Amino acid sequence: MLATYRTDRSYDWNYRHGPSFAGRVPAVPATPAKTFLGLPVRARIGIAAGLLLNSRWVELYARLGFDILTYKTVRAAARRSHPLPNWVFLERARGRLPRGARAAVRTAPRRGADVAVLSSTVSFGMPSKPPAAWMRDVARARRALGKGQVLNVSVVASPAPGDPPARMIDEFARLAGLACEAGAQVVEANLSCPNVCSAEGDIYHDAALSGRIARAMKRAAGATPVLLKIGYLPARRGLGRLLESVAGGADGVVMVNGIAVRIQRPDGAAAFGRGRASAGVLGRMVHAPSVAQVRSAVELVRERRLPLAVIGVGGVATPEDAGDFFAAGAQAVMLGSAPMYDPFLAIRIKRSHPQW
Ligand SMILES: Cc1cc2nc3c(=O)[nH]c(=O)nc-3n(C[C@H](O)[C@H](O)[C@H](O)COP(=O)(O)O)c2cc1C
Repeated sequence: MLATYRTDRSYDWNYRHGPSFAGRVPAVPATPAKTFLGLPVRARIGIAAGLLLNSRWVELYARLGFDILTYKTVRAAARRSHPLPNWVFLERARGRLPRGARAAVRTAPRRGADVAVLSSTVSFGMPSKPPAAWMRDVARARRALGKGQVLNVSVVASPAPGDPPARMIDEFARLAGLACEAGAQVVEANLSCPNVCSAEGDIYHDAALSGRIARAMKRAAGATPVLLKIGYLPARRGLGRLLESVAGGADGVVMVNGIAVRIQRPDGAAAFGRGRASAGVLGRMVHAPSVAQVRSAVELVRERRLPLAVIGVGGVATPEDAGDFFAAGAQAVMLGSAPMYDPFLAIRIKRSHPQW
């Protein structure tokens, strides 16, 4: 199967030369019109923040039938990527994610053949171009979309150690304003990067701070919907507190980001090297916990009548996986890693389930 992202090449190489796709794009099945956060879409199936490094990537995946396109997280100042490796496949571990303080997963020597059961892990450190560059490129990405397609731009603040929360909140708000000015139809704050070892990685654990960020972004974004990307939060009480706090500011929550676990090579050494011992696991291993969290979030939103959309991400590699999230009550389903090695997935999903 084709892979659009070259894992043997750097992030910069993939940014400049990707996506690696030489094939013909098959016809995308026509599907009935729907809405996503009030915007018209042909399907509530999209690409999560990650694979769409720039407008060329957005354009390819829009042509491949994904209708909610998330531009990979950008910052208020340029940031370099971590060095290689950045994206590594994992041993199957019976498809289950090991948990606990000492849990670790082993890398696989090569990608397995059956794309429906793959798990992988990424460690990029959320690189970014400077705002002037990404804003020009976001405008290009927007122009590349067709009718019934929506551009979501993911942003993150870059707090220095010891910075007061107010500075970070202002930065999220400023980024929301810049993303909207550039052409974003939805803006998403990444409150949950499992691969950065600094404060921006686990903001979602702080319900009050997340709420303040959501409200500040909403003020800056005006009529443009605001989403928050959150990570693994299996305790219902903590999830409820977070949802209560962000409702009214954010229009929706996207969950679950990659789940952080220690990543080791088969010889036991840290796969990404020093200072990058753990990283977010993606794919098959995180599907069941992601669906369970979406189900809890949807129940909480309904019980407490919160004005929030819940959007599912995590381990979708087949139409049935997407169905798990819709059955759990998700309003849209986003795919992170599988479209890299299975770019025709949206076409298959639209063929089998035009109603999504
Ligand atoms: C190459 C790559 C880069 C990613 N970078 C980001 C990022 O910049 N911001 C973010 O919120 N999530 C990022 N993610 C996480 C995805 O949005 C998604 O949450 C994760 O891949 C789980 O979905 P999956 O199991 O379908 O892969 C990235 C994922 C991949 C594959």
